[in-house]
Amino acid sequence: MNKIAEKTSNYYIELEEEFGAHNYHPLPVVIEKGEGIFVWDVEGKKYYDFLSAYSAVNQGHCHPKIINALIKQASKLTLTSRAFHNNLLGEYEKYICEYFGFDKVLPMNTGVEGGETAIKLARRWAYDVKKVAENQAHVLFVEGNFWGRTMAAISSSNDPSSYDRFGPFMPGFSLIPYNDLEALENAFKANPNIAAFMFEPIQGEAGVVVPADGYLAGVRALCTQYNVLMIADEVQTGLCRTGKMLACDYENVKPDILILGKALSGGTIPVSAVLASNEVMLTIKPGEHGSTYGGNPLACAVALEALKVLKEENLAENATKMGEIFRTKMLQLQEKSPLVTAVRGKGLLNAIVIKPFGNGKTAYDVCKKLKENGLLAKQTHGDIIRFAPPLVITEQQVNEACDIITQTVLNLS
Ligand SMILES: Cc1ncc(COP(=O)(O)O)c(C=O)c1O
Repeated sequence: MNKIAEKTSNYYIELEEEFGAHNYHPLPVVIEKGEGIFVWDVEGKKYYDFLSAYSAVNQGHCHPKIINALIKQASKLTLTSRAFHNNLLGEYEKYICEYFGFDKVLPMNTGVEGGETAIKLARRWAYDVKKVAENQAHVLFVEGNFWGRTMAAISSSNDPSSYDRFGPFMPGFSLIPYNDLEALENAFKANPNIAAFMFEPIQGEAGVVVPADGYLAGVRALCTQYNVLMIADEVQTGLCRTGKMLACDYENVKPDILILGKALSGGTIPVSAVLASNEVMLTIKPGEHGSTYGGNPLACAVALEALKVLKEENLAENATKMGEIFRTKMLQLQEKSPLVTAVRGKGLLNAIVIKPFGNGKTAYDVCKKLKENGLLAKQTHGDIIRFAPPLVITEQQVNEACDIITQTVLNLS
């Protein structure tokens, strides 16, 4: 058979296998179109997208207003670098600072660059403001954290699949358990050189781990008490995903440094942002940090529109309501199926835990069946399936999707 003329899913999968690095293990589906909460594969089959590109497509695939802003700006000016000013950067910076109530923003591209930037800011602040001795600044993280794949990110990871045989690692980092205020206070007491505590308000990649009520407020209070910067990594939890604009809003907590990414561009181009006070942000001077693409006019135009859509379409409120329906249905499934051992999440960031079944089958096998039945979701850590549809999903669609998940799991039980 002439593979080139055929161009089926298998053709594209084989191409990737042959010419691409093997650093991912995707589900065997080849998507060529997306609209709202749906995607279509190259054979024309339609699926519910319950991953949303790891929460980057909160506003739905190819949101008309965001795409319009993208196309309009793309035909006018895309990149100037920061060697020159552009007419959109200042407008965007003002908009995002007022939107989240911060003095200043530092625009970057990917989420992990946001994390790197936050850590550089924290170290610099430690030397200039907190007066930590040179090269002694320490950053504290939590077990199970995930903030990307750079050397700094994997240096703070306790997941061997992230760090194994990639050493040597970045010094000045350490880990404490998540959701443990006592451990946090003990760490602060033990080391006066801690510049920052960086964490996700709900751990995404770890399997949608929701901390106890009061954790966020407790972190805020301890960081203030011990003069440590609170860095909230809201790259995945932010921008309405968990039912509030930020997951920190659940406890009315404002971090010292806020990292955003993913849905900041509505799933179009990589756009991330680090927000902070003047005290923190102005410690970095011209020439000390940056990125060729950071703050480019195309990114600014897209991010402005992506942020507007979140409010115009009340996506936080919809995520809360649809999330409640989703978890109720999944709890009903848990009662019926021995495969489901836990249901958890907030807003539309949810997960179910799958017990291994039928001779070594795992959550991956459930995801494969879900795919056959018209719903795309991704397992994490072998036994957890994360469900995170675009936030524009309607009640009828949530119900239909829950029916697919329920039938699939019951048939495997
Ligand atoms: C909480 C969190 N932070 C940071 C990142 C890294 O973002 P990116 O993949 O855009 O670098 C991720 C990616 O999944 C994430 O979930």
